[in-house]
Amino acid sequence: MALTGLVGWRGMVGSVLMDRMRAEGDFDHIEPVFFSTSNAGGAAPSMAKNETKLQDAYDIEALKRCEIIVTAQGGDYTTEVYPKLRAAGWKGHWIDAASTLRMKDDAVIVLDPVNLPVIKNALASGGRNWIGGNCTVSCMLMGVGALYKAGLVEWMSTQTYQAASGGGAQHMRELLTQFGTLNASVKPLLDDPKSAILEIDRLLVEKQRALSADETQHFGVPLGGSLIPWIDKDLGNGVSKEEWKGMAETNKILGQGEGFGSAAIPVDGFCVRIGAMRCHSQALTFKLKKDVPLADLEQLIANDNAWVKLVPNNREATLRDLTPVATTGTLTIPVGRLRKMAMGPEYVGAFTIGDQLLWGAAEPLRRMLRILLE
Ligand code: HSE
Repeated sequence: MALTGLVGWRGMVGSVLMDRMRAEGDFDHIEPVFFSTSNAGGAAPSMAKNETKLQDAYDIEALKRCEIIVTAQGGDYTTEVYPKLRAAGWKGHWIDAASTLRMKDDAVIVLDPVNLPVIKNALASGGRNWIGGNCTVSCMLMGVGALYKAGLVEWMSTQTYQAASGGGAQHMRELLTQFGTLNASVKPLLDDPKSAILEIDRLLVEKQRALSADETQHFGVPLGGSLIPWIDKDLGNGVSKEEWKGMAETNKILGQGEGFGSAAIPVDGFCVRIGAMRCHSQALTFKLKKDVPLADLEQLIANDNAWVKLVPNNREATLRDLTPVATTGTLTIPVGRLRKMAMGPEYVGAFTIGDQLLWGAAEPLRRMLRILLE
């Protein structure tokens, strides 16, 4: 059985990954070696078989023993360890959740329900680096990848509503702490049905503006009861790095654009952090290359993969099935609000949601592991 190193398995993405691997019986197919950045020599978790002690995640010789390494340890770890490992002559498969290596020529962004042919081509030509995509991009393509596969998309604009979990576990805690502080600041008035809502609102915004540095440490500003229309770095050209990833990664996943000898499909829009916990949502506008009947588009999307769920474009179904709360903790990718737009018959709107920790992070990695084990 393939000796498979697992790094960063205790963190948020790593824990979701371990849960999914257990649920799908992945451990039946590997000999896991658990690595740790802080507790080498400690006891490995119960999934361990013969490798019962935690190994040092910075020990290149220990890592070199593995045929496959799966890491959710984060970008700093990849930056430090990956080059050393390759320089030491390691020829194994590196499966990584971090963005560090994503855009490298020798890396494939893995999302096999969407780009299995790209993965298989790379495997056939000796590819060894398999990187999980940006969560927003992966969730979007799981929902509407069918339109790209059918060659229908001239361009796409996306407006995102991204959850706190995209920032990390501490961001989720911070959001909830803010909600708690804000609620507490107006609770007596809230409990009194005769109190004036504008007074509650005045006190609330006063509190939001006065949140302590501790309570805004991770987001920088209040997110509870507000939103933040900037995610990731400032690229200095008016575009956030998260927005840049939308076009760069979508095309790379599809095996399209620069490096593939074809024109890239324009993807652009605004990425916004909102007070959801772990589901990223997106409002999409497509310009299609031709007028396709709505019923055909519905069929294409609904039949694309086992996880996409077409939500009828009406109020009742939308409220029931097309929310972060309905989607959290599931592999379902609801796609709804599908309709032709006022700009013309080639313009199509859709709304889609995905659990940022499942299809957005852990799931493509474990599926890539299974592809390697086939
Ligand atoms: N950049 C994403 C976010 C995280 O901040 O929501 C997952 O790629």
